[in-house]
Amino acid sequence: MHELKRVMVVGAGTMGSQIALQTALSGRYGVTLVDTVAGQLDKARAQNQKLLDRSVEKARLTNEQAEQALRRIDHSSDLPESASNADLVIEAVIENIDAKRSVFEELGKHARPDAVLASNSSTIAISRLADITGKPERCCNMHFFHPVTVMQLCEVVRGPKTSDDTVQTAMEFVRSIDRTPVLLKKEIWGFIVNRILFAASEEAMRLLEGGYASAEDIDIAVQKGLNWPMGPFHLLDFSGLDVFYGAMQDRHRLGEGGEAPEVLRRLVEEGRLGRKTGKGFFDYD
Ligand SMILES: NC(=O)c1ccc[n+]([C@@H]2O[C@H](COP(=O)([O-])OP(=O)(O)OC[C@H]3O[C@@H](n4cnc5c(N)ncnc54)[C@H](O)[C@@H]3O)[C@@H](O)[C@H]2O)c1
Repeated sequence: MHELKRVMVVGAGTMGSQIALQTALSGRYGVTLVDTVAGQLDKARAQNQKLLDRSVEKARLTNEQAEQALRRIDHSSDLPESASNADLVIEAVIENIDAKRSVFEELGKHARPDAVLASNSSTIAISRLADITGKPERCCNMHFFHPVTVMQLCEVVRGPKTSDDTVQTAMEFVRSIDRTPVLLKKEIWGFIVNRILFAASEEAMRLLEGGYASAEDIDIAVQKGLNWPMGPFHLLDFSGLDVFYGAMQDRHRLGEGGEAPEVLRRLVEEGRLGRKTGKGFFDYD
């Protein structure tokens, strides 16, 4: 299996900054966090500092551990230079195929020949990015969940050309940073979790639209009957209805499912996007 010393994370947004932090917290790797947008690296550093301060306050980490973790992360806007030093690259730039393809093209030119190249995309399978690197056998998806420092799971997805060594390296890396990997053995839209989540959310919306039960009661039923920590409507509001709607429409365009439910389309059109706008299926203060 491939030995890893330095991990590079491309994209210092919501996901990338926390993947870098979780990797640094393991104490096992040097980390380079790369972003090309001015100010984003400072923002990521400040957010990670805040997360670490909170962990120290709650006595989950010592001051020393928090300082060491932050010191392990180098921040850079130079992708080619950073890629040439990395054994594993995790791409976490915006969810746009062209943006991701341009990153993978650069990685193909500048990454070490044996480096593992992973994408954190929620919906773009690695087969759509791997060939452009010229090393598709070194590529896979590594799909972490938000917030990375809390959510244990990472879905590792094997593309049609991914090698056994790449899969093994990715799975072992996830374990080494105290997260839990699962392997999707062949690509399918939505991977494992989102397929199950979308199916359940659609069914909940169908019950609501059909007038069978209220959103409150459907949430209570799922929480108390299935032991979910949060019902589907609160989860939809928490994640953002526009995000769900966009993903469901993409899925439909790809021929992987029907159109998004009417109730979801209507709420999005009314600007009721969930918690972030104060209104969604429920109202928030
Ligand atoms: N947010 C979530 O809940 C979540 C969960 C799982 C997976 N994901 C996936 O993670 C990826 C990132 O999502 P996010 O929510 O962190 O996005 P985000 O918008 O918060 O961050 C994206 C970052 O990428 C940077 N960027 C864009 N183009 C770049 C380039 N060419 N080189 C370097 N940096 C570049 C942007 O400046 C930004 O800082 C997406 O593929 C998304 O599907 C997101």
